[in-house]
Amino acid sequence: MKIAVLPGDGIGPEVTAEAVKVLEALALPGLILFEGDVGGVACKRHGHPLPPETLTMARECDAVLFGAVGDPECDGLERSLRPEQAILGLRKELELFANLRPAKVFPGLEHLSPLNSEIASQIDMMFVRELTGDVYFGEKGTRMRNDGLREGWDMMSYSEKEVTRIAQVAFRTARGGADKNRVTSVDKANVLETSQVWRDTVIAAAGSHPDIELSHMYVDNAAMQIISNPGAFGVILTGNLFGDILSDLASAAVGSIGLLASASMGERETEHGLFGLYEPIHGSAPDIAGEGKANPMATILSAAMMLRHSFGLEGEAARIEKAVADALADGVHGGDLGGDYGTQAIGEAVRERL
Ligand code: NAD
Ligand code: IPM
Ligand code: MN
Repeated sequence: MKIAVLPGDGIGPEVTAEAVKVLEALALPGLILFEGDVGGVACKRHGHPLPPETLTMARECDAVLFGAVGDPECDGLERSLRPEQAILGLRKELELFANLRPAKVFPGLEHLSPLNSEIASQIDMMFVRELTGDVYFGEKGTRMRNDGLREGWDMMSYSEKEVTRIAQVAFRTARGGADKNRVTSVDKANVLETSQVWRDTVIAAAGSHPDIELSHMYVDNAAMQIISNPGAFGVILTGNLFGDILSDLASAAVGSIGLLASASMGERETEHGLFGLYEPIHGSAPDIAGEGKANPMATILSAAMMLRHSFGLEGEAARIEKAVADALADGVHGGDLGGDYGTQAIGEAVRERL
């Protein structure tokens, strides 16, 4: 079981260190960890945010544990050299087109949500976000117009092939849930041609899944309903950009972005399971980096998703998730949840409860 650990920038190294210690505490036989540079750190050391040796390491492992990338000092660099290109490059190069982002309120922890407890208790949704297409990866540029004004442009597109394969992931994911075989496909088909192709293709793909209850919602309405009526959602199938925005929104409804994990997968099988990259949904949080204040739970929960999806270790994954839930129930709250536990203390509290 080979894992590439890519801590990255800002709070990335702080939160991944705690997740690694959780993995080590499980004493899994045959576990080997490698470490590589990504992001601003890699740019400074190797002149590129995703050095070839890091990409090769990731490819040769069975899974990747990723922290976060992003450094305000690099925001002025040309786009291809910015830290964010590391995660975009990994997703594209490793063909990780399916991003699963569960947003669930832990039972008994409704009070962590800013929503009232009755509404908060309904939050149990899974985002299935397409990750290698959309406006993220289209042609883009800036140009000077005839009127002397600078203009930026980004091409948004989805092909039927890209939509079909992510829709199939959403339908498979939904089938696992008890009363949650519901898939809501979120788009902007009232305005965007990209979304019309998306919607038509999702409907066609659903033909072979009569057990799935499929509905469609415009993204603006979805943003509103996720807060006001979260119980309406099981699986939320959506594109790259809308999924990015809506999953941060859902994290706030759960209580904090420091709690939301993610798994990014494609189709490649290893001898242990599906190859995947696992990361918290949050970024490098430069405002608190280096202060030991970051909540590592999202990264620890991402490690649990890794054990489940890439190594078939459902029991160990559930153990980690229960330890996190128990720590939260015992009042182990970071600053993001109004508590005063620091990064290492939270990591320790989770390990004690394994
Ligand atoms: P962010 O997610 O880094 O931070 C948003 C806010 O949430 C900040 O106030 C931060 O302190 C807080 N926060 C985030 N994670 C936290 C945690 N674990 N514990 C406690 N508080 C936490 O988003 P941003 O500020 O918009 O972006 C900062 C940088 O991160 C940018 O360079 C951005 O491009 C990058 N980014 C990277 C990833 C990634 O690597 N996958 C994801 C999102 C943003
Ligand atoms: C995320 C991040 C990334 C995204 C950025 C850093 C490229 O916001 O993983 O949610 O937009 O996908
Ligand atoms: Mn994001």
